[in-house]
Amino acid sequence: MANSAKQRSGIWRRQVLFLFLLPLLCGALSEQIRYSIPEEMARGSVVGNLAEDLGLHVRDLLTRNLRVSAEKQYFTVNTDDGNILVSDRIDRESLCPRKPLCVLPLEIVAENPLNVFHINVIIEDINDNPPHFPQDGFVLQINELAIRGSRFGLESAIDADVGRNSLQSYRLSSNEHFSLMVKDKTKGKNAPELVLEKPLDREQQSSHLLVLTAVDGGDPVRTGTTEIRIEVTDANDNPPVFSQDEYRVSLRENVPPGTSVIMVTATDQDEGVNAEITYSFKTLRDDVGNMFMLDHQSGEIKSRDLIDFEISSSYTMNIEAKDGGGMATECKIILDILDENDNAPDVVFTSVASSITEDAEPGTVIALFKTHDKDSEENGEITCLIEENVPFRIESSASNYYKLVTDGTLDREQTPEYNITITATDKGKPPLSSSTSVTLHVADVNDNAPVFHQASYVVHVAENNLPGAFIAQVSASDSDLGPNSRISYSIVASDLEPRALSSYVSVSSQSGVVFAQRAFDHEQLPAFELTLQACDQGSPALSANVSLRVWVDDRNDNAPRVLYPALGPDGSALFDTVPRAAQPGYLVTKVVAVDADSGHNAWLSYHVLQASEPGLFSLGMPTGEVRTARALGDRDAARQRLLVAVRDGGQPPLSATATLYLVFADSSQEGLPDLRDRPAPSDPEADLQFYLVVALALISVFFLLAVILAIALRLRRSSSPTWSCFQPGLCSRTELGVSPNLSEGTLPYSYNLYVASDSGKTRCNLLTTTPEMVPPQDLCNEASLVVSVSKENNKTNSHSVASIYMFN
Ligand SMILES: *[C@@H]1O[C@H](CO)[C@@H](O)[C@H](O)[C@H]1NC(C)=O
Ligand SMILES: *[C@@H]1O[C@H](CO)[C@@H](O)[C@H](O)[C@H]1NC(C)=O
Repeated sequence: MANSAKQRSGIWRRQVLFLFLLPLLCGALSEQIRYSIPEEMARGSVVGNLAEDLGLHVRDLLTRNLRVSAEKQYFTVNTDDGNILVSDRIDRESLCPRKPLCVLPLEIVAENPLNVFHINVIIEDINDNPPHFPQDGFVLQINELAIRGSRFGLESAIDADVGRNSLQSYRLSSNEHFSLMVKDKTKGKNAPELVLEKPLDREQQSSHLLVLTAVDGGDPVRTGTTEIRIEVTDANDNPPVFSQDEYRVSLRENVPPGTSVIMVTATDQDEGVNAEITYSFKTLRDDVGNMFMLDHQSGEIKSRDLIDFEISSSYTMNIEAKDGGGMATECKIILDILDENDNAPDVVFTSVASSITEDAEPGTVIALFKTHDKDSEENGEITCLIEENVPFRIESSASNYYKLVTDGTLDREQTPEYNITITATDKGKPPLSSSTSVTLHVADVNDNAPVFHQASYVVHVAENNLPGAFIAQVSASDSDLGPNSRISYSIVASDLEPRALSSYVSVSSQSGVVFAQRAFDHEQLPAFELTLQACDQGSPALSANVSLRVWVDDRNDNAPRVLYPALGPDGSALFDTVPRAAQPGYLVTKVVAVDADSGHNAWLSYHVLQASEPGLFSLGMPTGEVRTARALGDRDAARQRLLVAVRDGGQPPLSATATLYLVFADSSQEGLPDLRDRPAPSDPEADLQFYLVVALALISVFFLLAVILAIALRLRRSSSPTWSCFQPGLCSRTELGVSPNLSEGTLPYSYNLYVASDSGKTRCNLLTTTPEMVPPQDLCNEASLVVSVSKENNKTNSHSVASIYMFN
């Protein structure tokens, strides 16, 4: 303090010195006395000595009564020594604020004589006020985006002192972002400014605390501080960031709509709106946009529609995340769709033959087809099958290409068409399959000959038919188609004479009807056989033969013919002699007649029409035997005449008559001359006839034996005993009566006995011959005698017919 007081007094001395010089320099201001004191001097401190400065004597002081005249008494005058003393606190800042020169004028009044002295007291500043800021601290908001060099004005500090003691400079606490700059805005007033030296980043440091210090120039230096809190306001300087740049997910196809696919998340380091993220699809194709939906808030992607692997096996989507400040980032989503076996395989025919001939070789290609499955891998691997038991198989030709070929023989007649079903199955789990059918028509080939409906045909035609009459109809069928089954009929062979054939029969080629071309004659041609052919129109044509046997049935168109008695060669009648001694029942003679017809029509019966002496002779009706009915008497005429009618059994019957001349003779020698009287028959033809009759008689005996034997055998075999052939009355009706006296001699011909039952169902051939008469090897050659026995035992009126035909 002592140091400071000495300094102060140094100042006064200079001031006082100046004041002493002042009157010398300018006489006008010679009355002016100035003192200069620092402010805030303690009370009682001496400002100056008036007495000395005014030139007054100390001893005058009391009388002059010096005093200070002022509104406010900062000073007093010590009347003892004439010193001016500080009487009150002098604060320069309150006396003359903001004035650089602070002068307190005062008047010193002196009496005796009254005199007024004007004195100026200059108050000098001392550094008694530190700089101070209006606030202890303040907040400055700076956007983090503020660029380097940006300036932010700060509140100035205030220092009430002036001059060197006033505010001189500012200091900023050390930091890396800001520097301080002070700019003279207005004269004398310093405005500090913060200058951004290094950009701020809210995300790194959201606030900074700085201390600003104001410094004055006093001695000692005084300072004032304020805290600057810098809040870095957010700028949208951070884009949203996805958790991954690229997301790869897989999804099964056909998941139900609404299935969550993925949830993307992005974060933003900014805050507030700048960190509010919305998600959206970026440049999405329409079809993808229809398939997926995005929750804009959560970033979840869901399927909107059914997803089909076959449409696309993967999707790429770009998702944009955008914050409220408009910054955006994209991420990429690669969505792989996983295949499911949801597509059945297809079978597509590239070429199909609609028909194939039935003689096609095995291995003939029918169709080409390919298979296709939209699924992939195992779900798209296909195997093809066709049903079993068809003569086809599948051959794989190239990948997914197949051939359908024949694998066996085809027969249109058995299977005219096939529905071939091809089943394609994939290897998915579970497998899917599909079937496709092709209809294959088997085309006809002439591989079937016509077939007659009967193995052979037998027909009966009554003789004397009209020319052109229907005889029979043969029919055949052919299982082929079209021309291959169109049949025409023809006669290819017969047992008729080839030249005569066409005059006998004809066949309609269309219908197979056989017509007679002439009237048949049973007696001439009792039967014939034709071979008919049915021929189709295929190429080459196929044919079949059948035999048609035509039996010409008998009609009663021939009258009996009397063989005996015959007229002599000259036309005279022949006689039969009867011994007079003949007993009743003596066989006189036998009327012999034949009928060219057969069966009933040839059954002959004999009736007496006229007798010269009725009752003398009896005539066997079936046999034609003439016997004596009683003993002959003398009265009986020697010559008798019998008119005999021979009738056949036809309807209506036909008949012939014969006249018998009988001569009674007493002995055989007696009668014979009569006979010899008559010219003996010498005609060789008559002889032949005679022998023939004899032969016939013999044969008929043998024949009857044979017939009986045959019938007996037959009966023994058959259980039916109703066969009436053994009834005496019926079986005796043999056609040929043979006179006993004709039963000797030799036969010039050999004979064939042919016994058959007429029904055709049971037919037995019985060749009977007399060994001594007919050599066995000749049986079939020279002539034949056909005996037909017809049996109709299925009718109630059962009867049996035996007839003898003779051919020569
Ligand atoms: C084949 O299929 C067709 C049509 O479906 C049918 O009319 C025909 O009867 C079938 N043929 C066979 C042999 O199954
Ligand atoms: C049918 O008969 C004719 C004449 O006898 C013969 O040439 C032909 O080969 C026969 N056909 C058949 C299929 O038997």
